Amino acid sequence: MNLPEPLPPEFVEPLARAAARLGLFARQILWYPDVSSTNDLAATLAESGAPEGCVVSANAQSAGRGRQGRSWASPAGAGLYVSTILKPAQHALSLLTIAAGVAVADGIHAATGLVPDLKWPNDVFISGRKAAGVLAEAASSGAGTYVVLGFGINVLPAAYPPEVAPRATNLEREVGRAVDRGLLLAECLCSLAARYQDLESGRIESVVNAWRSHAAATLGRRVRWHAAGGVLEGAADTIDENGALVVRTSTGLARITAGEVQWV
Ligand code: BTN
Repeated sequence: MNLPEPLPPEFVEPLARAAARLGLFARQILWYPDVSSTNDLAATLAESGAPEGCVVSANAQSAGRGRQGRSWASPAGAGLYVSTILKPAQHALSLLTIAAGVAVADGIHAATGLVPDLKWPNDVFISGRKAAGVLAEAASSGAGTYVVLGFGINVLPAAYPPEVAPRATNLEREVGRAVDRGLLLAECLCSLAARYQDLESGRIESVVNAWRSHAAATLGRRVRWHAAGGVLEGAADTIDENGALVVRTSTGLARITAGEVQWV
């Protein structure tokens, strides 16, 4: 049985200072030394009645998961591995992962001064390398419909697997000094609470515009993706009000709603 432990001291003070801005995440922030995946543990807790806003964080994950069936390297103490339980209104669902990408980018900026760039839908890049990612998983059961929204941030240099190391970066490498993981967690949760509130209150435009303003290095860039008819290519134009990526191709505009694109 995996039991939570008290939050490490480095997290307590920043979270206490941010309490008034944590919104729905102020209720319960759980900390575990080592889990398989915080997304899996959050889903188990949601099934047993954990409320919306419950935050599950861990010092290490032995089976951290990424998007598209990939794994997420989660060495002990080297990153933030965090999942939240959300119960969004139907109208907020399509933009939830877009909003989460914005929130993580803003949280990194607030805690470090770095200016991350977003690659559709929610990969967080710094200096052309991936520093953070978001994994949202929805489920319906006796506990109702809920979304486990997880994010992982590479904070310290660590032994990342050789297949990701050349394309990955970490915040300390980029900022050139120690990064306070407690402050980073607090700022990411505050941003996520605010963006979630935007979505729930129908402030769609604000979320979409924030994403666009973080994606200057993505928009206008040539991308390639797998579609039903084969591999397509075009120039990323914008995202629409549902979070779909709009791409200008030789035959007109295409809307990509799922999966991911490759930079050409
Ligand atoms: C991606 O592929 O970019 C998404 C990575 C998401 C990783 C986080 S770490 C916390 C949470 N638990 C997981 O198993 N995955 C997410």
